[in-house]
Amino acid sequence: MCAEKDDLSKANLISYEKLLEGNKTFVKETLQLDPDYFEKLAAGQTPPVLWIGCADSRVPANQITHTKPGEIFVHRNIANVVVHSDMNMLSVLDYAVNILEVKHVIVCGHYGCGGVIAALSNKQFGIVDNWLRHIKDVYRLHTAELDGIKDEQKRTDRLVELNVIENVNNLSSTSIVQNAWKNGRDLSVHGWVYRLNTGYINDLKVSVKNNEKLNEVFKFK
Ligand code: CO
Repeated sequence: MCAEKDDLSKANLISYEKLLEGNKTFVKETLQLDPDYFEKLAAGQTPPVLWIGCADSRVPANQITHTKPGEIFVHRNIANVVVHSDMNMLSVLDYAVNILEVKHVIVCGHYGCGGVIAALSNKQFGIVDNWLRHIKDVYRLHTAELDGIKDEQKRTDRLVELNVIENVNNLSSTSIVQNAWKNGRDLSVHGWVYRLNTGYINDLKVSVKNNEKLNEVFKFK
């Protein structure tokens, strides 16, 4: 690595101490605007939205949707994957749907997702390969469409979208979401993709409010 590039990456590093200093600034600036801000927020949360997004540091749910603490309940993992046996995701989903009573669950992927790019490759990256296997499964489900896209960037972008769509489907297939629908709850599941180089969210318009479109074998009575 050349010296110039090395200096640049060092300048971009945020040190541990800087985070704690940043916290003090955050408190000071927030209290200047509203002296009761933290007392009010500490009283409880009633977020109307559950966000399932990528762990990527460039896709923070609140900032990109211009929302504040308390407005979005957040679950993030590498490549925003919804795995039906993942106790972490199931606990978050059950709590959000049945205790917080959110009205919307949003799966938000992002173009240029490293997890999706890795899943499309034949390289090994370690333990994460097992997690990314779920995205290789999405590829297998949509091989004909994806192999028909010759441009590598466009193929990756489409797999990002299909991964979101499959995970909207995975959420709709859970007993948690289906029971909420069966009980007449107003609950929607949405699929979005964030574009890193513009900042805009692409609504894939795959929102669902019932289990009608689910494959018959996935429908719970
Ligand atoms: Co990502």
